[in-house]
Amino acid sequence: MRDSTDTGAGARYDRAYFDKWYRHPRHRVKSPIELLRQVRFVIHTAEWVLGRPVRSVLDVGAGEGNWQPVLKKLLPRVKYDGVDPSTYAIARYGARRGLHLGGIEQLNALPLRDTYDVVVCCGMLNYLNVAQFTHGMAQVAARTGGVAYLEIFAKGDAFEGDTDWPSPQPAAWYKRVLRRAGLLPIGMQCYVAKAEQDRIARMERDW
Ligand SMILES: C[S@@+](CC[C@H](N)C(=O)[O-])C[C@H]1O[C@@H](n2cnc3c(N)ncnc32)[C@H](O)[C@@H]1O
Repeated sequence: MRDSTDTGAGARYDRAYFDKWYRHPRHRVKSPIELLRQVRFVIHTAEWVLGRPVRSVLDVGAGEGNWQPVLKKLLPRVKYDGVDPSTYAIARYGARRGLHLGGIEQLNALPLRDTYDVVVCCGMLNYLNVAQFTHGMAQVAARTGGVAYLEIFAKGDAFEGDTDWPSPQPAAWYKRVLRRAGLLPIGMQCYVAKAEQDRIARMERDW
């Protein structure tokens, strides 16, 4: 399978891309308060599932690593690893925010922990082709020790921002891939790995 470097992601997600979608007043899709709300939601959900504070987060397709400073404020001792194929983002924020150069297809080749309390794929899964998505979900499932937060827009969903991506698949397709990867939905784009299913109620397990 071609990886994200072959498909040009390293150069495509350049400074102009991030200036437009993260800083331009007309195009920016998320405000700092929305980001804070989103990060808090994911962390609190994972802590409820784990029954303890979150200690480690893997942010796949992390971009400039926007989640990192927010996480550090909420959880000063959290171990954070971000992964992204953007050479611009890694050059600018890699050392400061703990970002590694690579794609979702390459997690096994990177110096990462075996598992993380939280795995985040925010605003990046829709950019992947079928092979990248399918392979990527297996890798994400293997690293999920608590909760995976997987933002996916399916066919028929309303979305805003950059939509220069492959046509979304029907929801049933994404569900099938996630189920095969061993990820169980617990609502609001959060999932637990099948091995951890005892942590969730039968009502959600047998849906
Ligand atoms: C809209 S940005 C999201 C960034 C960040 N997750 C956030 O929420 O701000 C999409 C990101 O997906 C990344 N991306 C594209 N293809 C990827 C791949 N195959 N594996 C991992 N990340 C990828 C891009 O480099 C870009 O940083």
